[in-house]
Formats: sequence, C-alpha cells, structure tokens
Amino acid sequence: MNEYTAAAIDHFTSPRNVGAVDPPDGKGSDANPSCGDRTTITIRVDDGRVAEARFRTFGCTAAIASASALTELATGRSVEDAAALAPFDVLHALGGLPSRKEPCALMAVGALRAALLDVRVRTGEGGAFGPGGPLPPHPTEPQGPREPAQTKSAPGTGMR
Ligand code: FES
Repeated sequence: MNEYTAAAIDHFTSPRNVGAVDPPDGKGSDANPSCGDRTTITIRVDDGRVAEARFRTFGCTAAIASASALTELATGRSVEDAAALAPFDVLHALGGLPSRKEPCALMAVGALRAALLDVRVRTGEGGAFGPGGPLPPHPTEPQGPREPAQTKSAPGTGMR
C-alpha cells in the first residue's frame, strides 16, 4: 500500500483523544529511533478498564493517525485486553498504512503499553496486569495470530 486510506486521513485530520488525562493513572511514551518522533499516552483506569486514553504525538501523519486509532481501540477495554493490542490492530483500524509507514504504528502501541505498565508501578500491587503477572511486551516482539480488534468508529472501513 502506497497511499493513505480514508480512515487514516480522517484520523490525521480529525484526531480523537488529543491531549492528556490530568491527573493520569498511567503515562507512557515511546519513540521511533529511526526518526526521533515520539508519542505520549496518558490513561485513566476505572474498575480495571481503560476509562479514558489521550495522546500527544510529535510525528508524522501515520504516527498521529495511529495514536488516534489506538486510543479509540483502548478506551473501554480491560487493562489486560488493552495491553494485548498490537500494531496489527492499529493497521486494521486504519485500513492499512503505506508500507514505509507501517513502523510508525509501533510507537503508539509502545506508548500505550508503557502507560499500562505505569499503572502497575503506581499502584504497587501488580496493578494492570495482576500481582506477578507478565509485563506487556514491546510491540516489536512477535505476536500470535488472532482476529483484529474492532474500533468504535473507523471512517472509511465500514466499521462503527
Ligand atoms: S516518520 Fe517518524 S513516526 Fe513516522
């Protein structure tokens, strides 16, 4: 794929959940080492679920669209389900990205997982992933095959 989809353009031009949760229950950042761009995601967790997720991205079109889509995917999920979201899910929600831009989706997922891990650290009790539970893997680590997660809204993909 060499062009942006309608869904990706929509998330870039009308990004969802821009900003920061204040005060956050968890805050995490990740950077793309190849370009220096960075995404920070802050989250609020209520009763084991991501009640709110917001992002700030200093980055490209794909990075902003990915963070926007990922905050939509994460909101309302259990923290365990949110931690399992992968770049694959972001790409599915956007209807794909130009192939050279696919690595930009990693940054959003890395930031979300760092925010979820921060919840665990702040609570001091295992937090998001339970006492002694596994740490969320970095999105560059291999994921098992599964069906893509669904967004609440993904214009241009027919998903609502
Ligand atoms: S070019 Fe830097 S994140 Fe896309």
